[in-house]
Amino acid sequence: MEPRLGGPVSGNQIPPVDYLSWYVPRLQENRPHDLSQSGFAYDWDFELSSKELLGFWKSGDDPAKWVAERHNVELRQVCIAHGACQAISLAILAALPEDGPRVVGVEMPSFAVVSQSARLIGCEVIPFSRGPNPGIWKLNRDEVMDILPKVGVIALTPVMNPTGEMISEEDQDWLVDVTKKAGVNIVSDEVYLDAAKGTEFYRPMYLKSDNAVSVNSLTKTYGLGPLRFGWILGAPKIIENAKHAFQNMQGMASSPSVSIAGAVFNNLDKALDAIWVARENNLPKLLEVLKKHGIDWNPPPFGIFGAFSIDTDAVEAMHQYGKPLGLLATPGGMFHADLKNYLRVAWGGDSGEFTNAMPVLSQFLTSIQEGNA
Ligand SMILES: Cc1ncc(COP(=O)(O)O)c(C=O)c1O
Repeated sequence: MEPRLGGPVSGNQIPPVDYLSWYVPRLQENRPHDLSQSGFAYDWDFELSSKELLGFWKSGDDPAKWVAERHNVELRQVCIAHGACQAISLAILAALPEDGPRVVGVEMPSFAVVSQSARLIGCEVIPFSRGPNPGIWKLNRDEVMDILPKVGVIALTPVMNPTGEMISEEDQDWLVDVTKKAGVNIVSDEVYLDAAKGTEFYRPMYLKSDNAVSVNSLTKTYGLGPLRFGWILGAPKIIENAKHAFQNMQGMASSPSVSIAGAVFNNLDKALDAIWVARENNLPKLLEVLKKHGIDWNPPPFGIFGAFSIDTDAVEAMHQYGKPLGLLATPGGMFHADLKNYLRVAWGGDSGEFTNAMPVLSQFLTSIQEGNA
């Protein structure tokens, strides 16, 4: 179930994203207690006519300008894309030195799109890891040093899925330093990072160095997953490459997506504020359930999800105990085989629904513990 790394693929070599093959049918079951959503549930309210939805590109406005103003960067440091997933492929293409190896080093655990997509654009993908050591999620520096001479790009997700843990500043600075010395660029998937805005943990990679680009979108922290609106921030040279890649592979951005993004863009901070409220309301309830079951867990310091060990294969447990209870949460093994006993739980949903799900999660943990006894 973990991401499938390896060489370039085409035709029937193209691997599925096992996580999505598992998750989408279960999401469609519409289980009443859904703790699987790593995207924040925010109730946006806007009205747009069909003329506004379809006619954006005649309006003279520019979505890259909104992003540039929000981040206080120049327009030539922004490339718009259809969500972070698309932005990752564009960023990798843009950041791969033309005379360097077509090899991408990918941090594991990871969301499979981050780790597999480069194979479809003709790259080999090799791993390096960040893991519990013990209790702290630390970069494996030996592995990074080992792969650096072989790669053109390093891809990572500073706020890791499924743990929600931010990379430490020491590891982040070290990575920037060694990649720069090696002439390797960094593609940083930061879809979960904006939940840390206003804290010491908010450290986008593009602000650290010219050899790093940051990928982000309105999907997760802003609760607009279906919109497919994302962006890449970085040094003008790499961003220009990304814009060319976008033009070649996509042409122009979807007018309805951009129009809807424009309708909410000035209010984005409202969603970030609401994340803190959801956290304050929901997280203590989760911690109480875990404590009752003897699970001693330190949640990540910001954001709306995290992962803890349930001492059994989480795919199996979801099937055996979760389904009959109408419970859905995400098995950690979808992100790395080492996390197969981990369960990712999200607390960014409606507070009433979250409260109702807590006794169900508790029953789920009881069933596992009785089953293991
Ligand atoms: C690390 C990571 N990046 C990107 C995405 C998807 O981003 P988008 O919807 O903007 O394509 C996900 C979704 O689960 C994710 O976990």
